Amino acid sequence: MPKQSPDSLTIRRPDDWHLHLRDGAMMAAVTPHTAAHFERAIVMPNLVPPVVTGAQAAAYRDRIMAHVPEGSNFRPLMTCYLTEDTDPEDIAKAHADGIITAVKLYPAGATTNSASGVSDFDKVRPVLEKMAEIGLPLCVHGEVTDPSIDIFDREAVFIDKVLKPIRKKTPDLRVIMEHVTTENAVDYVRDSRSNLAATITTHHLIINRNHILAGGIKPHYYCLPVAKREKHRIALVQAAISGDKRFFLGTDSAPHTDENKLLPCGCAGCFTAINTMSCLAEVFDAAGAMSKLENFTSLAGPRYYNLPPNEATMTLTKGDPVTYPATVDTGDGPVTVFDPGFPLHWRVQ
Ligand code: NCD
Ligand code: ZN
Repeated sequence: MPKQSPDSLTIRRPDDWHLHLRDGAMMAAVTPHTAAHFERAIVMPNLVPPVVTGAQAAAYRDRIMAHVPEGSNFRPLMTCYLTEDTDPEDIAKAHADGIITAVKLYPAGATTNSASGVSDFDKVRPVLEKMAEIGLPLCVHGEVTDPSIDIFDREAVFIDKVLKPIRKKTPDLRVIMEHVTTENAVDYVRDSRSNLAATITTHHLIINRNHILAGGIKPHYYCLPVAKREKHRIALVQAAISGDKRFFLGTDSAPHTDENKLLPCGCAGCFTAINTMSCLAEVFDAAGAMSKLENFTSLAGPRYYNLPPNEATMTLTKGDPVTYPATVDTGDGPVTVFDPGFPLHWRVQ
């Protein structure tokens, strides 16, 4: 049980089950921020070019480790990017060698750097069958890319058109529907009997689509899947605070330089690695659910991935508002930190 008082909470150290660390100067700048609070993170493979083989995942892991500060126990959990050319044997070997923890499915064109993703889902069937056989989970970006489908409906349509058929054909495949943004996805996960879980981001617990579009366009709140109506945000909060072991944190912290966000066609992604734990504590506290924070950030994720929870702990305390930097400097330029729009009274000790 977490140790709790009205202004203090000690939980097992959290993990982040969906994270973008990028490469090069950006990776150097953002990795220490995640390592400061999280013990493990599932690292997304959508580099340019993407991380598609076990060897590339191992090399990327080594590049990340070079930027983990001394004394930190942070460990990146690597993923391979699923393409129509992915070799099932390469994936199986990378899994057996302990290099990868999951495989990532991006529908081609769904989001940042997803051009090499999957268009014809039958072509990846042998990989999915191999993954089901060896117990390697599939992380799914759950949005259709059909331009005729409204962007606010793309997650719901993906469930019916893509995810249900995949899970029907490969029922033993362990699936994580990532960064869910709709009541539809929450209901789908909740109603499933086995082999399905979902991650929820920090920002989707806080913003709805008005934050992006009302009173002027706010590029720093634009991410994919795009935030939906308030009723969906409420469904996500209800799922996160429910204690249900199928919902856990994946921040989808996705740093882009301000230069790349503030364009006529700006990049999608919110950078939340720094202030996520304060933001989440505020959300859970406001919902009267601090006792459920540990399940969401530290217990449900490892359980689904068949990993032990972290032994180390983290203490959060409540007091005067804590300030985080508005931007983080990187060798590529400044990156704006997610602004929850309310004061953060919870800090990480
Ligand atoms: C992510 C990115 O920038 O890599 N962007 C985002 O809006 N979440 C990609 C992704 O996870 O969709
Ligand atoms: Zn992501």
